[in-house]
Amino acid sequence: MKEVLIVEKLHIMARDKNETVTIVEDVSFSIGEKEILSIVGESGCGKSMTALGLIGLLKKNQYISEGAILFKDKNFTDMTASDIRKICGKDIGIIFQEPMMSLNPFFKIGKQIEEPLVQHLKMSKKEARKRSVELLEEVGIHDASKVAKSYSHELSGGMKQRVLIAIAISCNPSLIIADEPTTALDVIIQAQILDLLKKLIFEREMSLLLISHDFGVISQMADKVAVMYAGEIIEIGTIDKIMSYPKHPYTKALLQAANEINTNCSRLSIIEGNVPRPGDLINGCKFANRCYKKENKCMKEKPHWYYHDGLKTKCWYA
Ligand SMILES: Nc1ncnc2c1ncn2[C@@H]1O[C@H](COP(=O)(O)OP(=O)(O)O)[C@@H](O)[C@H]1O
Ligand SMILES: [Mg+2]
Repeated sequence: MKEVLIVEKLHIMARDKNETVTIVEDVSFSIGEKEILSIVGESGCGKSMTALGLIGLLKKNQYISEGAILFKDKNFTDMTASDIRKICGKDIGIIFQEPMMSLNPFFKIGKQIEEPLVQHLKMSKKEARKRSVELLEEVGIHDASKVAKSYSHELSGGMKQRVLIAIAISCNPSLIIADEPTTALDVIIQAQILDLLKKLIFEREMSLLLISHDFGVISQMADKVAVMYAGEIIEIGTIDKIMSYPKHPYTKALLQAANEINTNCSRLSIIEGNVPRPGDLINGCKFANRCYKKENKCMKEKPHWYYHDGLKTKCWYA
């Protein structure tokens, strides 16, 4: 399979008043054509920072200190953040959790879809207007012409997320990055939006990087899963292997939490303790203090990668 995105040993740092801390550490993964890779982990594990780092949207005090990001034939690590953002509007579609933050309340919906069409695909205003209504239809909005003329506050959460998906696919990207795209929605709408995303990914032969804290979402969608903990990927493999034979105690705990009725795993009720904060001094495995399997070695030495049966796991006792 041809890879669309390759991320190698990505490190993201943040400078605070008197210290510099590592927020994302040694993160590597790849996404093939037409493939869906999910990053899963509790809140604060560095999922969003990883996504923002990929697309040149880090804040002023955050920076990539090491690693490579290869998108098709381009090496993002050699490019300026503003050049990366230009590619992102066109060839990488972005969907964030909070539609209110991503849509401009002062512009009509249609106008917000037309903008990238004019800017990136060089359509005329008239062509863009026609195309924006078609795109709204394509994401399952029935009175598309009416919705194009409305403002974001007039739409429901699910409708807004459909509009964001329309914007994300508008310039025919090869990759979509979706960060918790359905977390703010209720369960039924969430399922509809996930179905829509999956259908569009399939029909348009795009790849998807889907970030979620919820294994329920991921199990419906992903081909491959990367489990993140405290800024690092600690296990990665195909969805079948991760769901059926997880090796890392953290992956097991996440799955168990997801299986508990009516819970999601944004906070792990079944394991005591919290995700360590960036900058916490930890010599061994970052998960050790919460791990039921920990032994002396885990507290002292950082685990290496362990390869077994298609899974890659960072744990001494995997
Ligand atoms: N400028 C910063 N200085 C220190 N820590 C930061 C900074 N920006 C983000 N972080 C920390 O980075 C970690 C990862 O955050 P994030 O990527 O948003 O997690 P997730 O998306 O997995 O919930 C969090 O612990 C957050 O507090
Ligand atoms: Mg996040």
